Amino acid sequence: MRILSGIQPSGTIHIGNYFGMMKPAMELSRKGEAFLFIADYHALTVLPEPAQLKERVKSVAVDFIACGLTEETVFFKQSDIRSIPELTWILSCVTPMGLLERCHSYKDKLAHGMSPNHGLFAYPVLMASDILIYKSNIVPVGKDQKQHVEVARDIAQRFNNKYGEILTLPEPQIRDDVAVVPGTDGQKMSKSYGNTIELFGNEKELRKKFMGIITDSKSLEEPKDPEKCPVFSIYKLFASKEQAETMAENYRKGGYGYGHAKKELFDVFWEYFRPFRNRREELLKDMSYVDSFLKKGAEKANETAETTMKQIRESIGL
Ligand code: ADP
Ligand code: TRP
Repeated sequence: MRILSGIQPSGTIHIGNYFGMMKPAMELSRKGEAFLFIADYHALTVLPEPAQLKERVKSVAVDFIACGLTEETVFFKQSDIRSIPELTWILSCVTPMGLLERCHSYKDKLAHGMSPNHGLFAYPVLMASDILIYKSNIVPVGKDQKQHVEVARDIAQRFNNKYGEILTLPEPQIRDDVAVVPGTDGQKMSKSYGNTIELFGNEKELRKKFMGIITDSKSLEEPKDPEKCPVFSIYKLFASKEQAETMAENYRKGGYGYGHAKKELFDVFWEYFRPFRNRREELLKDMSYVDSFLKKGAEKANETAETTMKQIRESIGL
């Protein structure tokens, strides 16, 4: 069984990204053969500055490897796969316009005033190539990407109807079990809300962010409801079951202030990421390991992609 997922290179990783995407993505390799790639072609649809794009791709790669990604996962850069643009064109020709016009994410972007380029419109076809070229069975994605996997399935079906049973129909796997991590203001942690806490950064600044998490104004003596507090929600992600129970009891019995909880939260956070932080420092000193990790991944992925491409070229008469 092949499991595949892609991630956009979108700058500094925050706690929401780690628990919502990175950790589940890394757990995939235990369930089957996992392919994971950095979607740098997709990132081009919003025309990032070249130096920034390069930096972000590098930074996502380092962060993933620092956080424990092993070579069991085939980890690579999308743009290192030579046949992706070729397959995108081939699939474009079996993709009805209407299928793309119906895509919510495209319509949302238009509604938010983005001036659309063809790449943004054709985004789901590129994504279909990513999925179909490795004959992926399972594609774990966030809710917002489910429709794109369905489009890939539809495109595969159309291709197979015309040219024979070559492509595997993928299934989206939605991570409903993954909690939405709250940010420092209690809403979903997101770069677009400016409420993020980064995984890696200066200790003093990070501590300040934790101390600034917004809570209600209950006094130290009053009993508090842990389930309604973002400090406790984030603490649960890091703490053991016993630690979480102890904090919940402290909340309920009173005499325990939000300041205490935030301090405990910072301490577990700092300890949790300590080994990753050390590993990241080492990697940054010698990026050749990161480069070779990605290169090995790309070799394996290219091999798999070429096997499919041979069948595809043959079947369509090229
Ligand atoms: P942001 O909202 O900060 O721009 P992205 O949209 O780039 O983050 O998300 C990258 C990945 O991280 C996605 O898979 C998304 O589902 C996950 N993710 C982002 N924020 C959270 C959060 N607060 N809780 C859980 N998962 C999250
Ligand atoms: N579009 C996805 C996102 O923004 C990233 C992505 C690109 C992807 N190609 C993919 C995800 C293929 C899964 C499969 O999150």
